[in-house]
Amino acid sequence: MGTLAGKRIVLGVTGGIAAYKAVEVCRRLVDAGAHVQPVMTDGALKMVGATTFSALASETVRTSLFGDPESPIPHTQMGQAADLVLVCPATARIISDIRTGRSADLLTSTILATRAPVVVCPAMHTEMWEQPAVQENLEVLEQRGVLIVPPESGRLAGGDLGHGRLAEPATVVAHVERALTEQDLLGRHVLVTAGGTREPIDPVRVISNRSTGKQGYAFAEEAWFRGAQVTLVTTVETPEPVGVRRVNVQTAADMQRAVESVDDADIIVMAAAVADFRPADPAEHKLKKTDGIVPQILLEKTHDFLVDLGEKKPDGQVLIGFAAETDDLVDNAKAKLARKKLDLIVANDVTQPGVGFGHDTNEVLIIDANGSCEHVPLTDKRDIARRVLDTAANKLG
Ligand code: CTP
Repeated sequence: MGTLAGKRIVLGVTGGIAAYKAVEVCRRLVDAGAHVQPVMTDGALKMVGATTFSALASETVRTSLFGDPESPIPHTQMGQAADLVLVCPATARIISDIRTGRSADLLTSTILATRAPVVVCPAMHTEMWEQPAVQENLEVLEQRGVLIVPPESGRLAGGDLGHGRLAEPATVVAHVERALTEQDLLGRHVLVTAGGTREPIDPVRVISNRSTGKQGYAFAEEAWFRGAQVTLVTTVETPEPVGVRRVNVQTAADMQRAVESVDDADIIVMAAAVADFRPADPAEHKLKKTDGIVPQILLEKTHDFLVDLGEKKPDGQVLIGFAAETDDLVDNAKAKLARKKLDLIVANDVTQPGVGFGHDTNEVLIIDANGSCEHVPLTDKRDIARRVLDTAANKLG
């Protein structure tokens, strides 16, 4: 079950043109199993119809402090019951009201009446966004622990282009999920590698493998949800998960450089399928059929940089390697764990159905340098990441 399942979320919608995007946020939260109570301000009601939210949410829209026979004090009832209050979009006005603790309407009163985390998604024109008053208000909110989902650049109301556009619904939902996840990796830097490296034969051809990067991406996503700063060094072009810094590379040598340029990783997750061999002398020009001879490709070994990472591992760092095997899973994985001086190795038998390359699922053994071995039966790759990071977080202490 996902983090959002069963969570009570008050969705405060204020009067920005981006209110229409909050409809999609509402739908996504409900789809993820959250119980959503929408609250609309007078301004929001001028932008989108209450019926739209009432139809999609778990409860009908509330708009007023007064007049509800079933709930004479709706702000305290909603504020106390909430697991999280999300303000999306948040206008400059509501940001200012939250800062000053002004109880001006049902939404501001609910925010005052809650002890739950508050997530604020600003959306406004660039000129308004850049006002020192707005920036100062947001800084104060952040210092108080309010989570701000930064706006993006792009098309604004009235055909303008600029900064201040509401974050995309998927981004907003990801921030909500993060706010509801235990932050056991907060302040930590997690470096993840993903995908199969591509070793050139000539400018158009490569030697690669069947890795799609899904397991590495699942690690990056899970680590960010748990509060970490995440760097993802990847050979695949799939967009990065929300909050993650992506560095694209092609070859094992590129990947080594990118990994070695990070010197403050608390956890390194080497999920990439790094090529063991590469063409020794890649052609500078495309090899042509018309040249007659079928080329013989001479291979040479790539450098196993996980060995280097194990050799110079700083105190306190948790180094995690992978072993995709077809035979003697446990013995091969244990030998790699020892040879590469790893803290953990995640081993899978890629001959099993649903396991390894390209699948959304995996079945693994998590083998610890301390001798313990945990079997994780077939489950989705995010769940695998969760279990491995649980063990890694314990090791960090
Ligand atoms: N790895 C690496 N650099 C390489 C090859 C592998 O950093 N040149 C890392 C992988 O990212 C993985 C681990 O080492 O985390 C194990 O990779 P694998 O190819 O399974 O192991 P090898 O030691 O290369 O052994 P073999 O291929 O013979 O099974």
